[in-house]
Amino acid sequence: MAFDKLIIHWRFSFLSMNFFGLDIGNSSLKLVEVKIDRSKGKVLSLYGSSSLSHPVNLAVDGPEDLKELSSVIREFVDSYSLSSNKVVVALPESQIFTRVVSLPKMPEKELAKAMQYEAQQYIPVSLSEVSLDYQMISDSPTSAEQMEILVIAAPKTLVSKYLKVLKDSSLEVAALETETMAVARSLIADAKTPCSLVVNIGALTTDLSVVSGATIRFTRSISTGGTSLARAISQSLGFDLNQAEEYKRTYGLDSSQLEGKITQAIKPIFDVVIDEIKRSTAFYNTHHKEDKVKRVVVCGGTASLPGILIYMASSLDLEVILGNSWSRIYIPAKFSQKELEESGPSYAVAAGLALKEI
Ligand SMILES: Nc1ncnc2c1ncn2[C@@H]1O[C@H](COP(=O)(O)OP(=O)(O)OP(=O)(O)O)[C@@H](O)[C@H]1O
Ligand SMILES: [Mg+2]
Repeated sequence: MAFDKLIIHWRFSFLSMNFFGLDIGNSSLKLVEVKIDRSKGKVLSLYGSSSLSHPVNLAVDGPEDLKELSSVIREFVDSYSLSSNKVVVALPESQIFTRVVSLPKMPEKELAKAMQYEAQQYIPVSLSEVSLDYQMISDSPTSAEQMEILVIAAPKTLVSKYLKVLKDSSLEVAALETETMAVARSLIADAKTPCSLVVNIGALTTDLSVVSGATIRFTRSISTGGTSLARAISQSLGFDLNQAEEYKRTYGLDSSQLEGKITQAIKPIFDVVIDEIKRSTAFYNTHHKEDKVKRVVVCGGTASLPGILIYMASSLDLEVILGNSWSRIYIPAKFSQKELEESGPSYAVAAGLALKEI
């Protein structure tokens, strides 16, 4: 199987184009399937999640872990009446190198050649070790002489692990992409959406990406997430991890509760995320004075932390909104609106994968 052009462009061509989106997170599996309806567009056909009994990290997991993950995925997928065995999966942002680079304008053919020589300076590992892909950013606001290219590199070992796990789960991979690409698709409606910093706060990682004109301009991943918040509560207040998790979900960053003890415990850790948002925004704004970040869109399971939006808005000089994973999907009446709303933030990746045009 060719690894070239794997992430952005790669796909198998299937006769039938039914597929579902599968988000293999550190703490849970999530899937979303949509169907095309002539009048309603993309219609939600099913969605669901399942917690993983121990954290998954394909970058370091060994053969036994991968085997187990395959059977967990198979079992999870079998518990739904999916209309297809074909799947679109996201590679974890923390393992991917994403850069937007500026080059003199040139025809597509020349660009392919130029990338062979240019790419190495943007990728911190040897090009022989990565699957490299790139895409011209068509609505780039740069000058008439320059063009911007989105360059993505994924370690080949990681890609093979994903392909092996999915094959062993008896799934056919329709396409792979990165988590931020999926999230940008589900949360950012169209090119007219104001320049946004999308923050996906999961269990082990937080991914930040600036999305402008529906295109990714910048990405960054840090190893702080919901698990670190629960650990901080456990350490500072002496609860076991399960109890700490419960306190986190009940009181979070709402300082009016429990004399603000839970907030005090998680604040120093959550502020790592706040600082990274400030740094990423400042960095992006310095280089894009004409197209500054206007708002922050939060998603991922930790976006449901009580008080998170108020806390973020008061710490940042920006509007902060909760990402709506379902905004581009028609929701039939059989689904509970309340359940979709509650679990919405954690489906941003899976929904984006399900919406991929393939
Ligand atoms: N209501 C809630 N309040 C606070 N935190 C929550 C809530 N629901 C879920 N979480 C937290 O969200 C995290 C899981 O989020 P998510 O499902 O986005 O992560 P993941 O995709 O499995 O992990 P990662 O993105 O790091 O690979 C966990 O840390 C969990 O404790
Ligand atoms: Mg995730």
